[in-house]
Amino acid sequence: MNSSHSNELHTDPIQFPGVDVYAVVGNPISHSKSPAIHARFAEQSKQQLHYGRLQPALGDFAAVAKSFFATGGKGMNVTVPFKLEAQALADVLTPRAQLAGAVNTLRIEDGKIFGDNTDGAGLVRDLFAQGIQIQGARILLLGAGGASRGVLGPLLEQGPKELVIANRSNAKADELVQLFSGLAHSHHVSLLALTLSDLEDSAKTSLAFDLVINATAAGLSNESPISNAAASNIFAPKSFAYDMVYGNATTFMQQALHRGARVSDGLGMLVEQAADAFLIWRGATLTDVIDSRAVLAELRTS
Ligand code: ATR
Repeated sequence: MNSSHSNELHTDPIQFPGVDVYAVVGNPISHSKSPAIHARFAEQSKQQLHYGRLQPALGDFAAVAKSFFATGGKGMNVTVPFKLEAQALADVLTPRAQLAGAVNTLRIEDGKIFGDNTDGAGLVRDLFAQGIQIQGARILLLGAGGASRGVLGPLLEQGPKELVIANRSNAKADELVQLFSGLAHSHHVSLLALTLSDLEDSAKTSLAFDLVINATAAGLSNESPISNAAASNIFAPKSFAYDMVYGNATTFMQQALHRGARVSDGLGMLVEQAADAFLIWRGATLTDVIDSRAVLAELRTS
């Protein structure tokens, strides 16, 4: 294979006759843990399938996805930077994918491509598994990009008391508040927007939050989106700080730890969103057969 080809990390369904083929699609994708996670779910549920990787060049997502489905591929997980293109490609969207403005799970049925988004449900399930109560909680969501939009619906549906979206620039946070105001209202949630610098003002954040979620892209470069002054306002020993990135303890997590809060990275969210995708593809009856927390524990020790 020509290594300069856009489709270098190739998962060609034709090479796996008689086996259902799935793939995670992103750029870059070589370090994705999704193939290992889905291989474990397949083992746990005794399913025969192949789950590989695809790395389209930027701009080639639709062509690569269409060819994957045309040659027999059954489903895809979609990650950075293709979630919006996946949404555009889908013939049918679930309501939660529409609300999230992005698609992370595609499947084909009767020639139609269905788009869903399991990110928010994955986050909520990981929080529950870690004993975090969302109902009645005060939540601070840092960032107003795609990652925040993807989880807002499922968080609001759990009925927190208050959800504050804080972003570097306030226009995007205001837009999200507008977009989700109906849902917030129907779940009796007080939804408001602040800037990240507002968090330094103790008059604006008079009480520490129960749950602070970092959904900014700052974590990818291991910067924290918040200053130490803001951290002192928003974290208390009762707080739980969740960083959507995974790997080492991030600067954001260290700021929280330093103020006595509990912390988590986003590896559990990754596994839980994968579990939901697996059930969408292979059948909800497998819910009791796959054990996502065991897969997470294995990833933590591998
Ligand atoms: P994605 O769709 O992947 O979430 P995005 O739309 O670029 O990516 O959004 C990234 C989010 O991280 C935005 O909320 C961005 O803030 P702005 O809207 O002000 O750009 C935020 N972000 C990125 N880098 C950041 C940094 N160094 N500090 C604070 N926030 C940051």
